[in-house]
Amino acid sequence: MSFIDTFKPENHVLLGEGVWGKVYDLDDGTVMKIAKEKGGVGSGRLKVLHELKILRGVAGAKQEVSFGIPEVIDSGEFPKGWIYKDEEYVIWMRSTKLAGSVLEINRIESLTDEAKTKIAMSLAGALAEFHDALRASGIELQEDKILTDPDTAKGLSGIDVKRLHAVRNYFAQDDRALKPIHGDFNISNIMFGAELSVSGVLDFAETCLGHDEDDLCSLTSELPFLKEKIVREYERRTGRIIDPVHMAMAEMKRDLISMIICRYRNNDFDEAQAAQARLDHLIHKLVGPVI
Ligand SMILES: Nc1ncnc2c1ncn2[C@@H]1O[C@H](COP(=O)(O)OP(=O)(O)O)[C@@H](O)[C@H]1O
Ligand SMILES: [Mg+2]
Repeated sequence: MSFIDTFKPENHVLLGEGVWGKVYDLDDGTVMKIAKEKGGVGSGRLKVLHELKILRGVAGAKQEVSFGIPEVIDSGEFPKGWIYKDEEYVIWMRSTKLAGSVLEINRIESLTDEAKTKIAMSLAGALAEFHDALRASGIELQEDKILTDPDTAKGLSGIDVKRLHAVRNYFAQDDRALKPIHGDFNISNIMFGAELSVSGVLDFAETCLGHDEDDLCSLTSELPFLKEKIVREYERRTGRIIDPVHMAMAEMKRDLISMIICRYRNNDFDEAQAAQARLDHLIHKLVGPVI
């Protein structure tokens, strides 16, 4: 009997849950991610297959970073009709469990200034190291096409289509070279160990070609009170200058996608309104009065 025949989610502690599925602690130093086909935008099966490719590709680069990255142990597809709590799961991935724990945003907010600074320095350093390792790995990646994907425009009101086009056209004129990025470098995908330093980075389902600012913006939009420190330390660690206009572009794209997901997929209208206000401010600043 294979491992998957005996796997029962109800026997394990749930570590995390996202739109695609769940992650369980198998209590033997490994974790199990299970995913549905439908959840967010796209295919859950393809997201996990993509993450497997990235994890296998960065395996060789792990010596170059000072934190953990999960190692894939095994993966497979569930037999058709594999149902748990009325939902069908299609694919699974077992990997090593990373040391440390995820820190909630409000927990970080409540820390002393000294502790917050430590976190900012460690996050910026980890991102700089990760970018180097990912770029040295030679993994072939594709550009994130969310702005031009026909699915993104589906069902949008006229005014939101205008917003999408304004952002899309602005990005179409951008001639910077694309580079490998994590794609979802938010605080729920980062583990912290003792001394508030980054002990692990996970969740490579969105890893793609983009810009340094996209990953920085994932962090700084959640931790705006650490934005200056994170950006300055990232510049110091990489020797690259972060242009505030490029940072604002990353924020504009992020707010647009967040507005669309909240308004049309999750029915979270308060968050959609907040993202829209930020977005309109940025469109006005960067693009001009198109709305
Ligand atoms: N290898 C791992 N080691 C420790 N915790 C993990 C690991 N993988 C996932 N987790 C936990 O599960 C959560 C969800 O996993 P993640 O890979 O980010 O999936 P999702 O696509 O749901 O965001 C993470 O925020 C983390 O708390
Ligand atoms: Mg995640």
